[in-house]
Formats: sequence, C-alpha cells, structure tokens
Amino acid sequence: MKIAIDGPAGAGKSTVARRVARELGILYIDTGAMYRALTWKALQLKINLSAPEELHQLAADTVIDIRDHGDGTRIYCDGREVTTEIRSPEVSRMVSVLAADDKVREVMVEKQRAIASRNDVVMDGRDITHCVLPDAEYKFYLTASLDVRTRRRGQELENQGYEVDLEQLKREIMERDQLDMSRKVGPLKITPDAVVIDTSDIDCESAVQYVLDIVREG
Ligand code: DC
Repeated sequence: MKIAIDGPAGAGKSTVARRVARELGILYIDTGAMYRALTWKALQLKINLSAPEELHQLAADTVIDIRDHGDGTRIYCDGREVTTEIRSPEVSRMVSVLAADDKVREVMVEKQRAIASRNDVVMDGRDITHCVLPDAEYKFYLTASLDVRTRRRGQELENQGYEVDLEQLKREIMERDQLDMSRKVGPLKITPDAVVIDTSDIDCESAVQYVLDIVREG
C-alpha cells in the first residue's frame, strides 16, 4: 500500500502521516527530512549551495537512512544521527535552495522510490503525489492558513529551545512556499486526484481519522 501526502510547511503533514502509518502498521517516510539531512551536511562541509557540481557530488556521495525505532523516526546521515540537527533554523533557511536543484531531486526521488518499492509506506513531502509515487493508491494534500502554519512551526521550534520571532518565521515560510511552488522540477502542487484537507480549523487527530476512514473504506 502506498499513501502519498503533499502540502506546504506546517500543514501538519508529518504528524498526520506518522500517526496514519502507526495505525496501519506500515513505514513512515518523511522526505523533507531527507532534503534536510543533505542540507545539514552541505552546511557542515561549507559547500557552496550555488555550485551545482558540488551539490550533485554531495547528493551522490551521501547515505541517508531513516529508521523507525518505535519511539519515533530517526534520521541518519552517513551513519551519524541528525534527527534534531536537521530541524535547526539554519537548515530550514537553506533547504529550499538545495531542494530546487534538479539533479539533487533526481537522486532523492530515486532513493525514495527504492524505499517504496520494498515497503508499504506513508510518504510525505511536496512532490510525492505527482512525481515520486504517481501511482499511489491514496493521495492527500494537507494545507492550512499561513497564520496557523506559522504558529505550529513556531511552537515546534520553541519546544526545541529556540527563540522565535513569529513575523520573521512567517516571512521565511512564505519565501519557502514560494520557492517550493515555483521550481521547475517537482514543485509543490495539488493534483486533481488528491483529497484536500485543510487543517486550519481542525486538529491533527481529526485529520488522521479522516485519512484512516478513506483508506479503510478502500
Ligand atoms: O517538510 P519540510 O519542511 O521538512 O521540508 C523541508 C524542505 O524540503 C522544504 O523546503 C521543501 C523540501 N522538500 C521538497 O522539495 N520535496 C519533498 N518531497 C520534501 C521536501
């Protein structure tokens, strides 16, 4: 079974996708975390993000691993756990630049399809419904108002100990959405066969139940 979920930052995708995967007993793959892990490594190595050759080499040379330990998913980059580091504001600021590169996307999409070919998955991201898994049995597009998405991301960051300026965060999310929607390869978009769920006025638990009802009805 393949369940594909796309949507902008802060729409509640990962919370919903993780819970749906757990309820169904299948694997959850957070593809945003894969782009983030690569960005984390690029920042560590001080790679020039506007030099395509360096980015392509980086994508080809990096082993990204997602493991489910039962207490949540952990992300590894070349064997080192980076689950927390990839959520930093620096990574969030740069990830859309790296994710706009077509060769980087090619490598990542290939890795994601390979995982999905071996497992039943709930996979979330920006291009899952129309590029990574166009044949997924179930497709969803999660969204919410910019204010709600900003508040959610702000809360996540505060929980991790960061000081948050909500106005700046809102601008950054808007810029990121703009980059994600306007890039040539794998842009964020709603496919006609996706069920759109607006989580502005409902909690994630209701969205989880809605998705599960659709999947269980078959
Ligand atoms: O979902 P997220 O905020 O963790 O995603 C991080 C970035 O990665 C985001 O700017 C968009 C990009 N991304 C992408 O381009 N394609 C995906 N399938 C997943 C994420």
